[in-house]
Amino acid sequence: MFKLVLICLIPHLVNSYVHRSDDRFPICLSETNNACQEEMKKKNETLERIYHIHHPLTDLFNIYTDQCRKVMECASGLECFKGKSQSEIIETSCDDVGTIQYSIDDCLSTILKKIYSNDHNCTAGFSFVSERDVPLFSIYSSFQENLFTADTIFKKEKQCILNIGQGVCKTDDFNFLQNNYDELIELYTNSPTSDIDQWNHPSEKFYRMHCGVLHNDFVQKSENISILSVNQENADVQKVVEIAQTAQKCHQKPVIIPGLEKYLKMVSENIQAFPAVMINIFERRPRLLEYRCLSSVSWWGVFREVVECMNGGDAKKCVLSFIRSRCQEEILADFEDLAVTLTPRNESNVPGVSFSLFKNNQRRKFVFTVNNTLINF
Ligand SMILES: *[C@@H]1O[C@H](CO)[C@@H](O)[C@H](O)[C@H]1NC(C)=O
Ligand SMILES: *[C@@H]1O[C@H](CO)[C@@H](O)[C@H](O)[C@H]1NC(C)=O
Ligand SMILES: *[C@@H]1O[C@H](CO)[C@@H](O)[C@H](O)[C@H]1NC(C)=O
Ligand SMILES: *[C@@H]1O[C@H](CO)[C@@H](O)[C@H](O)[C@H]1NC(C)=O
Ligand SMILES: *[C@@H]1O[C@H](CO)[C@@H](O)[C@H](O)[C@H]1NC(C)=O
Repeated sequence: MFKLVLICLIPHLVNSYVHRSDDRFPICLSETNNACQEEMKKKNETLERIYHIHHPLTDLFNIYTDQCRKVMECASGLECFKGKSQSEIIETSCDDVGTIQYSIDDCLSTILKKIYSNDHNCTAGFSFVSERDVPLFSIYSSFQENLFTADTIFKKEKQCILNIGQGVCKTDDFNFLQNNYDELIELYTNSPTSDIDQWNHPSEKFYRMHCGVLHNDFVQKSENISILSVNQENADVQKVVEIAQTAQKCHQKPVIIPGLEKYLKMVSENIQAFPAVMINIFERRPRLLEYRCLSSVSWWGVFREVVECMNGGDAKKCVLSFIRSRCQEEILADFEDLAVTLTPRNESNVPGVSFSLFKNNQRRKFVFTVNNTLINF
């Protein structure tokens, strides 16, 4: 059940990167307001100056961050916060200035989608999945870099990004992007210098945006691949595996939804082996390729059902067990004409008797014969 919940959440990642990991109400708020009044007031004043449609640019953002840090410093000395975590102090002291979703984030996220799906006509030779001719199932170290390649693209290919943006962003957002490009991209791609600032920093949001786009891309693409089409030549399968490998980078940082991290790790650890397992199963049991019970199942539909079992288990058994439970009728139908004949060995004392057991197609029941004499039961 938990698994199902997580799977349903994945497509929503794109929109959830802006939310904090939980919706706890900030604690010790009145204590902080009382004890840190001066700091709070300054921070509140800056907050009022922040234009809520677009992300605050460097100067204003730095002022805000500085003031919010001062509230934290004050708050962390309060009795009320004794034994509480730093994230709880941050939640009370600071607002989601760096992490909430501004309209410009929709624009950036759509541009990212275009980059990752190679759906643009920039002359720059960047593409998220580039090495099309590498053999299936080999491990590419270059993927490890890809999540950051997109960052680099934003920095190096300004004109191209703007070209993409012009087509997909709202006019107002596009103008903001165009007018403040360098500063904005600097804010979104540069990692914060201290752990404390990390919580509120837009680069975290940008990072999650990448992950959200990747996961969405992954789910969409893998939902679209029929399990029966998994074979050596299927480039879509290769692409999906590549996306999952790239998305592995996302697990190195805490993800938004607690518990999802573990699940995603399990997915990316097992996904590479999965196509080979399927290919092997189909090669040995080509009859399965005709099964209707499988024709409507996607690659992802099978994988998500078996991944937990695969994790540390025998992958092939896991898949076969899935097929067995899903395809009972067709498996039984396959056995309709099958007669099992048992002939006792000559050297035994049993008189020469031959048994057979088969399903009688007319009467739809099992029949047992001895010496070709029908025995009904
Ligand atoms: C600052 O703003 C917060 C949230 O809007 C509010 O709860 C608090 O009372 C304000 N504090 C001061 C000192 O202005
Ligand atoms: C590239 O995309 C832009 C915006 O969608 C479009 O106006 C232009 O014609 C395209 N160029 C080519 C060569 O496809
Ligand atoms: C799904 O597959 C169909 C047919 O192969 C294709 O036309 C469509 O674009 C695919 N959709 C996605 C989201 O990949
Ligand atoms: C067993 O019986 C079969 C037929 O009754 C015969 O053809 C075969 O040679 C016998 N085998 C041995 C080892 O006696
Ligand atoms: C079955 O047939 C064998 C010879 O083929 C015979 O020796 C045996 O007695 C028969 N058994 C029965 C139960 O009729």
